[in-house]
Amino acid sequence: MEKQDKIQWVFSSRNNEELAERYAQWAKDYDTDLEQDLGWRGPRCTAELFTKYVPRGAKILDAGAGTGLMGVTLAGLGYDDLVAMDLSQEMLEEATGKNVYREFHRAVMGEPLDFATDSFDVVMSIGVLTTGHAPPSSLDELVRITRPGGYIIFTLRVEIYEGGGFKEKQTALEAAGRWTLAEVSEKIPLLLKKPEVYHQIWVYRVI
Ligand SMILES: C[S@@+](CC[C@H](N)C(=O)[O-])C[C@H]1O[C@@H](n2cnc3c(N)ncnc32)[C@H](O)[C@@H]1O
Repeated sequence: MEKQDKIQWVFSSRNNEELAERYAQWAKDYDTDLEQDLGWRGPRCTAELFTKYVPRGAKILDAGAGTGLMGVTLAGLGYDDLVAMDLSQEMLEEATGKNVYREFHRAVMGEPLDFATDSFDVVMSIGVLTTGHAPPSSLDELVRITRPGGYIIFTLRVEIYEGGGFKEKQTALEAAGRWTLAEVSEKIPLLLKKPEVYHQIWVYRVI
């Protein structure tokens, strides 16, 4: 399969079981395919915003950590309290080898998460709020487990913000006084080899 088709292949998963199965098959080749062949720059672009808001020493959850590309980027910038969570055991196994996370949790965004309320200073989710992946309802749990004053930082595909229920969910959380928008990036093609796919990076402060 062509590398670009692999992206489409995971996007078109019909349910979480199929998604987990596809990432299980992709896990070993994911880093090479994404970074070298598809030009994935989600971690690098997010890190530029991340360092503006998050002090070193913060306790950070990487939600949908995958093989740990974001963790490696942040560890290189001096962040050392990182927890990884993902629905794919095989992706988490690849992340283990990066030696940058202190805990690993298999969990599904969109379902209740087994973390106490206010557990983290920061929750980030990079490349996960996208077509066929984690739903808008995931945000409720991310807000619950982030302490007041902490941040939630995520990439979001532009078309699912407007058409996939995220705009409504993000606005509802703001109206309910659960979070306030700190910053949203311009529309960025985060996959250099798929310049037609735009994301924005959102930074919310939890109230
Ligand atoms: C495109 S990869 C991004 C991985 C990593 N954050 C990165 O930047 O390379 C998407 C990851 O999200 C995970 N994922 C997708 N839907 C999820 C969900 N509902 N809950 C938890 N993880 C999910 C997948 O297993 C996969 O590892």
